[in-house]
Amino acid sequence: MAFRNRSFTDIHSLTREEIEFILDKTAIIKAALLKKDRSIYRLADGMDLMAASLFYENSTRTRSSFEIAAKKLGVEVTGFSGIEGTSVKKGESLQHTLDMFRAYLCDAVIMRHPLDGAARFAADYLDIPIFNGGDGKNEHPTQTLLDLFTIREHLGRLDGIDIGMGGDLKYGRTVHSLAIALSKFSNVRLHFFSHPLLKMPQGVLDFLQQNNVDYVEHDSLYGTLGASDIFYQTRVQRERMPDDEEYQKAKDACRITAAHLSAAKETFGLMHPLPINKEYPEVTPDADASPKTIYRQQAGNGLPLRLVLLALSFGLMGTEFRGKSNGVEQRSPSFYTDLLVVKKEQKTEQNLKPIQGSGTVIDHLVPGTARKLMDLLKVEERCDIYRGGTVRRRSNRDELKAMLMIENRRLTDDELRMVAAISPKSRINTITNGEVSRKIELHMPDIIEGIPYLMCTNTGCITRPEHHEHVTAKFIRAGESLLRCYYCNAMMGARELF
Ligand code: NCD
Repeated sequence: MAFRNRSFTDIHSLTREEIEFILDKTAIIKAALLKKDRSIYRLADGMDLMAASLFYENSTRTRSSFEIAAKKLGVEVTGFSGIEGTSVKKGESLQHTLDMFRAYLCDAVIMRHPLDGAARFAADYLDIPIFNGGDGKNEHPTQTLLDLFTIREHLGRLDGIDIGMGGDLKYGRTVHSLAIALSKFSNVRLHFFSHPLLKMPQGVLDFLQQNNVDYVEHDSLYGTLGASDIFYQTRVQRERMPDDEEYQKAKDACRITAAHLSAAKETFGLMHPLPINKEYPEVTPDADASPKTIYRQQAGNGLPLRLVLLALSFGLMGTEFRGKSNGVEQRSPSFYTDLLVVKKEQKTEQNLKPIQGSGTVIDHLVPGTARKLMDLLKVEERCDIYRGGTVRRRSNRDELKAMLMIENRRLTDDELRMVAAISPKSRINTITNGEVSRKIELHMPDIIEGIPYLMCTNTGCITRPEHHEHVTAKFIRAGESLLRCYYCNAMMGARELF
């Protein structure tokens, strides 16, 4: 995919070639900005471009560097910094706020929002580029690109490196995006250190494992620093914690002092997305003065990097890029296979009497799912005549399966999709005049959406009803019975969903 009109909502969708291209452009723009060589970077002069900067959460660096980058490029900026004084305070949804900035003819949206998946929603909803300046605890892709630029500047490479990460690995979105991004490079080893309450989420660890990235969860900060070329420290994200007790327990667990830095190797660099908390500093003032801290350069790199991203999306730069992109994933709409119907009488499953007239038999259900399905299919509410139970498999008497028989009912495609998501590999027999007229085997659908009751397990996800954003849940198949939320990337077992 070329860069023109491209949104930057997550780091997953960028290829290594695209990342390297962006970093190379950033080096050129950084040099030009330092020399004030406007002919290189003032690419939007006279084009009447306007970006909306919608920051629902506090920010110093991300917002300012984006806005300064836009101005240096020649793009005007409007919007808000914090929701005080906006109609968000009157209960307006994200969708309606986005509508307005589109109606006012903005050409791009730069946003930071407290809900996971907000940027993905905005990018799908609007036809202009969206730049994700952080969505809840999910991702912060533009931060990650400037982090990669800084690592490359400091170490001269992105392959064969040891990167430590610490502080708040659970709620810190910067470390999630950075870990995912580093998986695109070769021979990268990650070293994690945090309070046990703030460990890297299992979903990210699973992703690293699947992508053959070596990682170690350390139990000593000295050990972690000793193993790392660069350590990426983060602030404990108090504002994202459900209760302050978690913060009180974890706030001092990963604090970097001057002693830590003197013990680290000569070429070591300490990074931090900033801000550092001044009351319970995760980098102490004596360490802050050390030349091994490179977070000031790191933050400064946000300016050229974000200028490059804006320029790429506006088609002002990078049209020559011919490298590899991740194509739009092709997903199959089908979620079942027709099986051959052998004309024979329905067998009686122990005490489950076969359907004499018409109806549906759902067979080979995972035990324990029949009750759930009955609720979802509203079997009792509709006063359907049904029979259900757990029985032994004929082929293997040691194995159990569940069955549900519903008289005078055919399942709709949406209902079948729901059964497929809860119990992939189950079979649906359509009964006509007491005989099986059609038999299908279900598979986990590639995409699951539009099913009532479907709820992402991440309470911070934009699709959760308690946030009233009216975004319908949508899931992508990530394994035999594993799903990934399309918006917030949370991984969950299919059965947890319903
Ligand atoms: C971070 C953020 O907001 O995700 N800061 C940043 O963007 N530079 C980290 C933080 O707030 O602690």
